[in-house]
Amino acid sequence: MFTKTLAFDDVLLRPRYSDIVTRKDVDLSVEIGTPRSMRLPIFASPMDTVMSVPMAIRVFDAGGRGILHRYCSIDEQVEALMCCETAEVFAAVGVTGDWFDRALALVDSGAAGICIDVAHGHHKTVLSAVEQLKHALPLGVHLMAGNVATLNGFDALAEAGADSVRVGVGGGSICSTRIQTGHGVPTFQSVLECSQSEYDCLLIADGGIKNSGDIVKALAAGADAVMIGSMLAGTTESPGEVITNPGVPPVKVYRGMASPEAQVAWRGKYSSNEGVSRTVPLKGPVASTLYEIDKGIRSGLSYSGVRNIRELQAKSEFITQTSAGAKESSTHIDG
Ligand code: XMP
Repeated sequence: MFTKTLAFDDVLLRPRYSDIVTRKDVDLSVEIGTPRSMRLPIFASPMDTVMSVPMAIRVFDAGGRGILHRYCSIDEQVEALMCCETAEVFAAVGVTGDWFDRALALVDSGAAGICIDVAHGHHKTVLSAVEQLKHALPLGVHLMAGNVATLNGFDALAEAGADSVRVGVGGGSICSTRIQTGHGVPTFQSVLECSQSEYDCLLIADGGIKNSGDIVKALAAGADAVMIGSMLAGTTESPGEVITNPGVPPVKVYRGMASPEAQVAWRGKYSSNEGVSRTVPLKGPVASTLYEIDKGIRSGLSYSGVRNIRELQAKSEFITQTSAGAKESSTHIDG
């Protein structure tokens, strides 16, 4: 059986009558069950070329949340968390080895949320980890889990007790999961499917989000928030040295956490190879990137004539576009 699926670039939102006079009339907030709600529905991905202490602080300042990655010792991750002081920050754990002690240590040190960060989240070890942490975490600490690509996967993690689920398998800019394994679903399609869930569980669209337009599409399709990696990579606050070569603009490395390069760096060897390592141009301070994203999303809601994300989901109207339409939708001037 074959199912036709849609990716971000296959769709557009049809503009609607608007009475939004200024972008300030648009409210992008989302409740995540922690003491403070998010003002910008964006999580920074727990990757070693994205997340740092300054990144977590700047993303929080902009209204989103950063998730400290788990590719370090418990002490190092706790220390990073403590350095974030007042900012509400999430932290990632796996499902093997020290994961449970790590989660408890992070919560004891003030993590606002724990993210169970696994490539194939519709898995018995992940379900068991969610169940265990659900009982162990104090009230007010958010429990995120993933990643899944299907409604069955989403519902299984929600049923196990996740407060939010990362939706998207193999769609990230640095992913090679679909090439290596033949598995995955276009992230936009997964969001559409998982938004049918009846569980009271937030949907985080993750992987393949290239611009604020994709964020608006993900929110309109049913996501409560998005997770981004490449959009934040190459900023001043992303970890890694600036690479300069004569005659070309400076760059930084952005790599998948399942790339051979990342695995060798953290484990001394690699087993599976489901990601790539690339360089991206330097972008400057992340605050400017986040400001542009925030403006773009607000503009997007204004084109749909809606004042908040719930209204966007209720009223927006998708159309599909042909490849000629997709070409017209991207800048296409010659020369
Ligand atoms: P973007 O498109 O924002 O995607 O750069 C970031 C998301 O990609 C996922 N991720 C990976 N997926 N192999 C994968 O298949 C990897 O090595 C890898 N590293 C990160 C993750 O969900 C992240 O948020």
